[in-house]
Amino acid sequence: MDEARIPRHIAIIMDGNGRWAKKRLMPRSAGHRAGMKRMIGLSEHIFDRGVRCCTLFALSTENLSRSKEELDGLFALLREYFPENAEILRAKNITLRVIGDRSLLPADVVQVIEAGEKRTEGGTRGTLVLAIGYGGRQDILSAVNKAVRAGKEVTMEEFSSMLSEGDLPDPDLLIRTGRELRISNFLLWQAAYSELYFTDVLFPDFSDKELDKAIEAFSHRERRFGKA
Ligand code: IPE
Ligand code: IPE
Ligand code: MG
Repeated sequence: MDEARIPRHIAIIMDGNGRWAKKRLMPRSAGHRAGMKRMIGLSEHIFDRGVRCCTLFALSTENLSRSKEELDGLFALLREYFPENAEILRAKNITLRVIGDRSLLPADVVQVIEAGEKRTEGGTRGTLVLAIGYGGRQDILSAVNKAVRAGKEVTMEEFSSMLSEGDLPDPDLLIRTGRELRISNFLLWQAAYSELYFTDVLFPDFSDKELDKAIEAFSHRERRFGKA
């Protein structure tokens, strides 16, 4: 495919793990495990397509008020898979980064995250960003407070650079799996001109082929950015 038709930055709202499990009469935790495995496979495939940057929404600020049982299960999966995933990414020369409010996560999960970030530091092939304990509004608010502390009015560029993906290009393509047609507090500022792609496919079933379909759909979009 023509280079210009490949999105530089893809962001994915990975939704539908719970319903995937329910359909199979399995507990939600089984859906999260299947989602975690799919996330690892998908993050390898994305960079093979020439995408430079990928942001995956794994856990929103609001998700942190789910039951203790569900959250404990999610954190256990992070502890289990994060180090292995970081190794895979390091071998592929991809930098791993996590955005979100770390003060909302258990201390040992933060440690695992930080070790993974350190392990993949400097990877030049691309950047994989995991949003964990992330909220778009919270991201904007924290940038506002940074600007206030700086004590002067800021330009659009300066403000953008204060957001948690300040050094990355905005997402060209924003995908949501799992049937819902909403943004659910993901990259609110950054998605201003993202192309949106919604699919009914539940995240654990979102195959490499489904991703290729989304990229193909993107390649036919005409991006105008407000121009005539
Ligand atoms: C998305 O799957 C993953 C997280 C938000 C942790 P859900 O857990 O929201 O799955 P559904 O929407 O209930 O199917
Ligand atoms: C969005 O999914 C957040 C993630 C996938 C991490 P939710 O399941 O939390 O979204 P809502 O509640 O349906 O809007
Ligand atoms: Mg959901």
